Amino acid sequence: MQNQPLSPVPPMGWNSWNTFYDQISEELICETADAMADKGLLSAGYEYLIIDDCWSMRERDQQGNLTADPEKFPHGMKYVADYVHAKGFKLGLYACCGVRTCAGYPGSFEHEFQDAAQFAEWGVDYLKYDNCHRPASIPSEILCRRMGMALRNCGRDILFAVCQWGTENVREWIRSTGAQTFRSTVDIQDSWKSIEKIALSRIEHPCSAPGCFDDMDILVAGMYGRGMNPETSMGGCTEEEYRTHFALWATLGSPLMIGCDVRTMPEEILALLTNRDLLSIHQDPECGSCYKAAVYGNPDAFVLVKPLRGGDYALGFFNFSDVPANLTLNFWDLGLSAVSGRGLRFHDCLSNQDPGIFTEQFSVKLPSHGCGVYRCQVVGL
Ligand code: GAL
Repeated sequence: MQNQPLSPVPPMGWNSWNTFYDQISEELICETADAMADKGLLSAGYEYLIIDDCWSMRERDQQGNLTADPEKFPHGMKYVADYVHAKGFKLGLYACCGVRTCAGYPGSFEHEFQDAAQFAEWGVDYLKYDNCHRPASIPSEILCRRMGMALRNCGRDILFAVCQWGTENVREWIRSTGAQTFRSTVDIQDSWKSIEKIALSRIEHPCSAPGCFDDMDILVAGMYGRGMNPETSMGGCTEEEYRTHFALWATLGSPLMIGCDVRTMPEEILALLTNRDLLSIHQDPECGSCYKAAVYGNPDAFVLVKPLRGGDYALGFFNFSDVPANLTLNFWDLGLSAVSGRGLRFHDCLSNQDPGIFTEQFSVKLPSHGCGVYRCQVVGL
């Protein structure tokens, strides 16, 4: 077992829930692994393949063990783990701290050590741990610590990803459970309204930091309203909105779990999800916390500022209003005054262009729900 955090930077991967709901199978997971390797998603950093709810039998076996549904996973879970490992991926699985999962399958309550041992035996590398059907008298904190302890003693490195939707002041105690990611919001839906709501609530709580990352939920980019999940699939978003969604998740350092069908994803979505400049901001080794800088005269637009290793800054300009907007950032608000004799050299991460060196301020015109993300270097003038 290693002493380092399993994921020193926010983890990246794919999760079955948003698009496939309960329609999951060995075939789907193996085909997804093949497609992700072929399309360069693995080499871009998307290494976890996460099987969400609905993978098990409806009841435990006679020894009280969880078993994979043989209709969905005819060769069992170890076979799937071996398959994805051989391709270079890690396997994630879903469980729940209550007596049932959210979709009604057996939960891990009072089976924590038994289930952790089972997951280790199968070769699981990541556990998403949900919050449904739990005894009302036991705080989330205790139930998460239980599974955290079981995982730490199961003989295998398994990344612990808690999902209790940001309730019960989770930010105050989550690090004590051994979790390395925690969901901070309700479930995402494939709509701009949902993206906006999650982003705004996340920006209110700038607490993601090395060792434990604030999870804004599975990406909806590329779903275009086509998911089989009635809880997640709405009308879909525009390409512009998916770009802003991905830029927000990347800048804010959320885990990046792809939620669309990667086998049939459009080229523009593949290009977005593998954008090197955005991913280097996301995977920056300092995992710096973002702050929000105001742009004057527009309450629905703002800039996110993230310090990067080596003195650079990521600046994300976001227009949440329903009309195009001109956004101006005064460098004074970043700590860069005119007398410093310094300016900022901008690199445009979305267009891969270099607009040059700017002093005192930078302006950009953005469409409704649009964004501009820049990597900026502080330079002498
Ligand atoms: C929810 C969770 C979703 C998904 C679902 C499965 O609680 O937030 O991401 O895992 O349960 O039933």
